[in-house]
Amino acid sequence: MEFKICSRALPFLIAFLGLWSWQVSAVSVVPIPKIAAVGENVLLSVDGVSGDIEGFNWYKGESINTNQMLRYNPFRTPPDTVFSPYEGRVRGFPNGSMEISGVNIKDNGSYIVQIQAKKQEVATVTITVYEKLSKPSITANLTHPVEYRDSVALTCGTSNAAQTVLWFKDSQTLSSDDRMSLSQENRTLTISNVSTNDSGSYRCEAINPVSRSTSDPYKLVVYYGPKNVKITPQGPITQPLHSQLTLNCVTESVPAPTYNWTLNGTIKSHEGNLVLTDITFHNRGNYTCEAYNPVTELSGSASVYVNVTGVTAGPDSDPGPNPIPPWVIVVIVIVILIVIALIAASVYYFLLRDKSKSNDISMKESNLNTRSDPHLQSSSRNPATQTGEEVNYSEVSFKPVAPKPTQPKLKENPTEYAEIRRT
Ligand SMILES: *[C@@H]1O[C@H](CO)[C@@H](O)[C@H](O)[C@H]1NC(C)=O
Ligand SMILES: *[C@@H]1O[C@H](CO)[C@@H](O)[C@H](O)[C@H]1NC(C)=O
Ligand SMILES: *[C@@H]1O[C@H](CO)[C@@H](O)[C@H](O)[C@H]1NC(C)=O
Ligand SMILES: *[C@@H]1O[C@H](CO)[C@@H](O)[C@H](O)[C@H]1NC(C)=O
Ligand SMILES: *[C@@H]1O[C@H](CO)[C@@H](O)[C@H](O)[C@H]1NC(C)=O
Ligand SMILES: *[C@@H]1O[C@H](CO)[C@@H](O)[C@H](O)[C@H]1NC(C)=O
Ligand SMILES: *[C@@H]1O[C@H](CO)[C@@H](O)[C@H](O)[C@H]1NC(C)=O
Ligand SMILES: *[C@@H]1O[C@H](CO)[C@@H](O)[C@H](O)[C@H]1NC(C)=O
Ligand SMILES: *[C@@H]1O[C@H](CO)[C@@H](O)[C@H](O)[C@H]1NC(C)=O
Ligand SMILES: *[C@@H]1O[C@H](CO)[C@@H](O)[C@H](O)[C@H]1NC(C)=O
Repeated sequence: MEFKICSRALPFLIAFLGLWSWQVSAVSVVPIPKIAAVGENVLLSVDGVSGDIEGFNWYKGESINTNQMLRYNPFRTPPDTVFSPYEGRVRGFPNGSMEISGVNIKDNGSYIVQIQAKKQEVATVTITVYEKLSKPSITANLTHPVEYRDSVALTCGTSNAAQTVLWFKDSQTLSSDDRMSLSQENRTLTISNVSTNDSGSYRCEAINPVSRSTSDPYKLVVYYGPKNVKITPQGPITQPLHSQLTLNCVTESVPAPTYNWTLNGTIKSHEGNLVLTDITFHNRGNYTCEAYNPVTELSGSASVYVNVTGVTAGPDSDPGPNPIPPWVIVVIVIVILIVIALIAASVYYFLLRDKSKSNDISMKESNLNTRSDPHLQSSSRNPATQTGEEVNYSEVSFKPVAPKPTQPKLKENPTEYAEIRRT
């Protein structure tokens, strides 16, 4: 049963396939190149014609008899007849092909060829023409976006001929996420609620089948601050009289802020640093640094209390020109002079007293010595030259002398006693 149906259907099937192949014909046309850039030449290359070609016609569009471009008759010279507006732009070849030179966007579309050979053949072909993309450029709808406040839309300016647009930030490809979105066929990149992380170099690339081109980088700067306004050194500060102090106002801010330094509300400086030289009690007070960012129009401030003490600058503080006042030096010098004078006076007094005592002794000694030995007398005046023998001798000569009332007093001073023993 099944087989019967098949065998009955088969002749119809074969007839249908034959009819189909006859209607479509074996002729094929391919464009070379398949996709053309504006300005290139395109050959519509005909293949599969059976028998000799006796002539052919080319038409723009999808129907015969309208918009004829070319008639080709191989038995005429020249064989080409070109219709307006294609004069000078198209030519035919004996194999049925046609070449269009310097294609433009208007040449994009379909073409039909009618060939007279053994039988009449008809075939269609499509030309796809793209313009070459020029360098796209990025524009922003906001040039100074502020952190956590603004949304910015970057637009990639490129021709409609761009089929694909890609975005890059610092050479990394971007895609839509919770804060970044791509719209209008990726022509627009919207970054909502920008943060400093979004600062960077953005590029877009436009791509179509005949070209790709990348924009110059667009430097996105996200402005912020002033944040964390601080004064260094940190307070409270106690500063000695006549010392020097530099207060630094530090903050995080893009762009750099302007500063106002105030003391108890009075403007002192518009710099980031406030330098106080030769500090007096007038410098005491509450110093405030106010930083203002002209782009974000935000400001922040910090304060530090600077106390001043009457103690003069010590070695730890900034070295002043001469921290010791002159009168102190004068007093010290006078005291030193008085002390030296007192020492000198007392030394002189004691020396005088001792000299008179020793004169007593040597007088008595010399009396003895002159009696015993004249040599010994000279030795006693120069004890360093004395020999042991002479000392013994002198001792011997000294011993017989009866104890004097001054003798015990001499023993109280060991030095003088020793001297006497040696003599
Ligand atoms: C038809 O002729 C042209 C010009 O000689 C040639 O470039 C092309 O390849 C030919 N086409 C085929 C299918 O042979
Ligand atoms: C070119 O032609 C194709 C179909 O042939 C069409 O889809 C395309 O939109 C055309 N392109 C232009 C730029 O006209
Ligand atoms: C922007 O982002 C910050 C931090 O992520 C958030 O605190 C703030 O609420 C956001 N602002 C808006 C308007 O979404
Ligand atoms: C820039 O575009 C974003 C997103 O479309 C929008 O939210 C923002 O208001 C625009 N800013 C300006 C100044 O037009
Ligand atoms: C848009 O960008 C995404 C991610 O970069 C990409 O995958 C997609 O092909 C792009 N679409 C167009 C139309 O450019
Ligand atoms: C910025 O980037 C850092 C590190 O990549 C991340 O820790 C931080 O959360 C990001 N901040 C915002 C607001 O996206
Ligand atoms: C600033 O105020 C403090 C008290 O808060 C005061 O001691 C100081 O003298 C004042 N300084 C000036 C320069 O007015
Ligand atoms: C200094 O000034 C700040 C800001 O005006 C204030 O908050 C602080 O209490 C002041 N400190 C002193 C010690 O006056
Ligand atoms: C600084 O002081 C000037 C006036 O002297 C004022 O116009 C300006 O707004 C102040 N700036 C800041 C950041 O306070
Ligand atoms: C400033 O220093 C003096 C002396 O050390 C002290 O008596 C005074 O209380 C200090 N003033 C302040 C406001 O700290």
